[in-house]
Amino acid sequence: MIEDKTKVFRPIHYLGSKLRMLNFIEDTINEIDPEKGGVCDLFTGSGSVAFHLSNSRPVTAVDIQEYSKVICSAILQKQNIENNYLNDFLNECKNSSHYSALLNSVRPLIEYEESAIQKALDKTSLEDLCHILEEGSIISYEISKKNNNKSLLFKHIKQVLENFKDNGISDVDSLSIRYFGGFYFSYKQTCQIDSILHQINKADLEIKNSLLAPLLSTMSDAVNTVGKHFAQPIRPRNRKGMIKANLGKTVSTDRRIDIFTLYQKWLKKYNTLTDSNYDHAIYSTDYDDALDKLPNNVSVVYADPPYTREHYSRFYHVLETVCIRDLPKISTIVLKGETILSRGLYREKRHQSVFCIRSLAPIAFDNMFQKISAKGLKLILSYSPYDETKETHPRVVKMKVLIDLAKKYFNNVEVKSVGEFTHSKLTHKAKHLDASKAAEVLIICQ
Ligand SMILES: C[S@@+](CC[C@H](N)C(=O)[O-])C[C@H]1O[C@@H](n2cnc3c(N)ncnc32)[C@H](O)[C@@H]1O
Repeated sequence: MIEDKTKVFRPIHYLGSKLRMLNFIEDTINEIDPEKGGVCDLFTGSGSVAFHLSNSRPVTAVDIQEYSKVICSAILQKQNIENNYLNDFLNECKNSSHYSALLNSVRPLIEYEESAIQKALDKTSLEDLCHILEEGSIISYEISKKNNNKSLLFKHIKQVLENFKDNGISDVDSLSIRYFGGFYFSYKQTCQIDSILHQINKADLEIKNSLLAPLLSTMSDAVNTVGKHFAQPIRPRNRKGMIKANLGKTVSTDRRIDIFTLYQKWLKKYNTLTDSNYDHAIYSTDYDDALDKLPNNVSVVYADPPYTREHYSRFYHVLETVCIRDLPKISTIVLKGETILSRGLYREKRHQSVFCIRSLAPIAFDNMFQKISAKGLKLILSYSPYDETKETHPRVVKMKVLIDLAKKYFNNVEVKSVGEFTHSKLTHKAKHLDASKAAEVLIICQ
């Protein structure tokens, strides 16, 4: 529902169209449920809608992704952490012997990258930076067994792996260096991220998510990719295979961000969020399972499922790995008959939502409508009509199909767009709203 759903939650006061949209959702829920019962945000994602609603009613936030649970725990079940604790925690991240060991181990790659960026900025050479962006991932080096290649980059990677062994640094303690260094972040930034993760892992269970969520916001801000999300790493070459002349500029701003400084800012923001007066619940599970076990206080379901074939998990795989803190296998693709690692180095077995699969989505919607109506709950379904004039993906299920399915289970189905209210009989009209009006609509089922 929030304009860019592929961005991680930012605990800020939303302004402009984002705030209008959030208020629109809240007002609509208040209209159909003036008693202010509980609301279930069934596909809560980054949690911005759940957070917005959490000051006026109890919220049950549901999402299949682990990163969503971490963020929702931090914002809906906020722990008030003493400032002294946060300062000590941050000092430990910056000054621990673990962080020194990480930096010392990774130094050959850090220095190589810094010099590569400078050379690219000075326009003396673009080659080294391009090589880092294309082949600088440690995990991909390990999997692809490029050990015979004599390049300087591979010599440094080999050295770093030996340093890890000598310094007793385990794979999980160097998780983000191995999986994201050189590709998504600078090598130095990943040392900082791994240092923070190491300290979070030692913290008390009840505050872990309050320390981890600000790291997700930090990583989302600092990441160096196309579009600042995690789906598409930087492409250093143009279509003709030439290295892009402005590569140094594309890379340097993001990669020079100090992760500790940014993390401190986010820690403060999360820790000063206002406390809610309600008890909220968080379910990290499939929508279907969640509907079977909703708390009794829920009277309205707000649903914003995916509507395109683009699986959301691609946008969040880095955050998901950091939250799960496992050592995932990397998914592969077949290109010209050859099996190669996915370009984004996505984790294997990413969640593939039924809502993104043409043959399964109508069945899933039918099931969702049936379960919600059988419980006597009202439903607000968020939908973004397809705008052929923009570079968006076609919708997996058309609005007309959705409305017909909803009418099987609900007596009253209405379509509302910001500033406009149309009865479902006018669906045809809603389908042809001009792009600005039809940017997002709510389908209200009672
Ligand atoms: C369009 S996004 C929601 C965006 C959210 N309203 C916001 O403002 O950030 C859809 C979400 O549905 C979740 N999802 C997809 N399939 C699911 C399923 N079967 N069960 C639960 N959650 C699912 C995805 O993980 C994703 O976070």
